[in-house]
Amino acid sequence: MKKSNKYYTVTAALPYANGPIHIGHLSGVYFPADIFVRYLRRNEKNVIFICGSDEHGVPIAIQAKKEKKKPQEIVNKYHKMIKDCFIDFGIIFDNYSRTSSKIHYRISTSFFKKLHVKKKIFEKISNQYYDEKAKQFLADRYISGTCPNCQVLEAYGDQCENCGTSLNPEDLINPKSTLSGCIPILKKTKHWYFPLDKYQKFLEKWILTDHKKDWKINVYGQVKSWLDQGLQPRAITRDLNWGIPIPYSLMKERGKVLYVWFEAPIGYISSTIEWAKQKKVDWKLYWKYKKTKLIQFIGKDNIVFHCIIFPAILKAHNSGYILPDKVLANEFLHLENKKISTSKNWAVWGHEYLKDFPNQQDSLRYILIANMPEKKDNNFNWKDFQRRNNTELVSIFGNFVNRSLTLVKKYNNGIVPNPGIFSTREKKILDKIKNYPQYIGDLIESYKFKESLSCFMSLAKLGNKYLTEEEPWKKKEKKRVDTIIYISLQIVGMLAQLAEPFLPYTSEKLLNILRLKTVFWNQIKEKTLCPGHLLGDSKFLFEKITNESIEKQFKKLKKIQN
Ligand code: 2FM
Ligand code: ZN
Repeated sequence: MKKSNKYYTVTAALPYANGPIHIGHLSGVYFPADIFVRYLRRNEKNVIFICGSDEHGVPIAIQAKKEKKKPQEIVNKYHKMIKDCFIDFGIIFDNYSRTSSKIHYRISTSFFKKLHVKKKIFEKISNQYYDEKAKQFLADRYISGTCPNCQVLEAYGDQCENCGTSLNPEDLINPKSTLSGCIPILKKTKHWYFPLDKYQKFLEKWILTDHKKDWKINVYGQVKSWLDQGLQPRAITRDLNWGIPIPYSLMKERGKVLYVWFEAPIGYISSTIEWAKQKKVDWKLYWKYKKTKLIQFIGKDNIVFHCIIFPAILKAHNSGYILPDKVLANEFLHLENKKISTSKNWAVWGHEYLKDFPNQQDSLRYILIANMPEKKDNNFNWKDFQRRNNTELVSIFGNFVNRSLTLVKKYNNGIVPNPGIFSTREKKILDKIKNYPQYIGDLIESYKFKESLSCFMSLAKLGNKYLTEEEPWKKKEKKRVDTIIYISLQIVGMLAQLAEPFLPYTSEKLLNILRLKTVFWNQIKEKTLCPGHLLGDSKFLFEKITNESIEKQFKKLKKIQN
């Protein structure tokens, strides 16, 4: 356990195990969460970073049908793929669990049981759409129709992907089954409901009063609009054969499972408990200790579940769970100016990128952080990826580091030189760069990830400009050469330490070259490399992205379009 008594539970949305991870997921949720956690870890905070695969619900069953496999086979396949992809991109969770785990079954069922026993949920019989051919009730994505809001055809029973409106199957115009294409009939069925309306007041106070100022406007705005419309009871069970079954002993009903959006957020808790058991620590410190901050990184379409439904469920459970201090959601990332779509295969898949650009994880991290859709939708395009990699990472950051290392090798046998008297410019530089850890840290703490990366890059630019303008290779006086190299190396040292939240592979590579160890954030100083310190062998930090490799990506996209 770390010295500080501040605890952070940072969660990243549990991805559906029905497909691989793409750039939209990475830039929207997982890279920002990873930057934040890496920064907290460097500040000696007691932080856990929790995630796992979301393995239930209709999306999984649909994918299973599509691939002609059993749902369990589908989740096994994608769970592994997703987990590996996160590791490969340097996103290191303390625990990456899965909602098909025994522990998650136990915890989520016990949540349901407690709410039932304490009469916090109620049962109701209602008419629901039923596919007579498939012999299946049509919840969520099993039913589609015209969106009552934007009139697009093929909106789903839980949401219109075109306008983002949350829907119920009965809202759809001209509904049809996505299983058989048939027009459904109405049939009676019994379900359990959570009376969300009873939590309206509590949520209004908690969000509209307590968090008005400190939640991101996109999150706050969406929540406010839900509250303004007035909350309604929500069904928390489904008639499905894939999901966590409701114990027959409890409900005397067969074929009912927990609604995926009831149990998946509980996955954050069960994943924490799984981790705590292995580490032999008390999980409650991370979920029931009042001083612990719960920070949740999610997708924009998950806002209502994290800010309204899950907090209300925790409140109803009434056993001391903390509520999120912040819920962070970005807008959407587009690909070549078109909406990313898993079903249309319009995406850059993490695992495919890694095959095409091995060892260039940080290039994608860089571009996706620099283009993060923090306030509005943003676009990823391959030409921009190539340009920014080649002109910013290679020509500025990489080039500056490489020149500094080549110079110290050439003029001082790879040993950090003793500087002479600093010029006014150099004094100013040292004065300025000592504030960078604070600047960057403050931006990360304010969840301004794009700006924090740009601040980091301004340090590389500063170093590059200084070295170019001072032209040590033209200087006659050895002491002057030594001083310029010394100053440049201090900037390189800072870059190595500060790069870690954004570019972890580069940071590690550079720290190895410099023969430095990672230090805590507040120990990053403007003079990190002492005179006499022997540096290791230099290597290029970044590779250029060639026209051919970009052409290959364009070809891939063209194939999908045709
Ligand atoms: O949108 C999604 O991919 C969901 N699987 C996110 C779930 S987050 C949490 F609640 F589990
Ligand atoms: Zn719509």
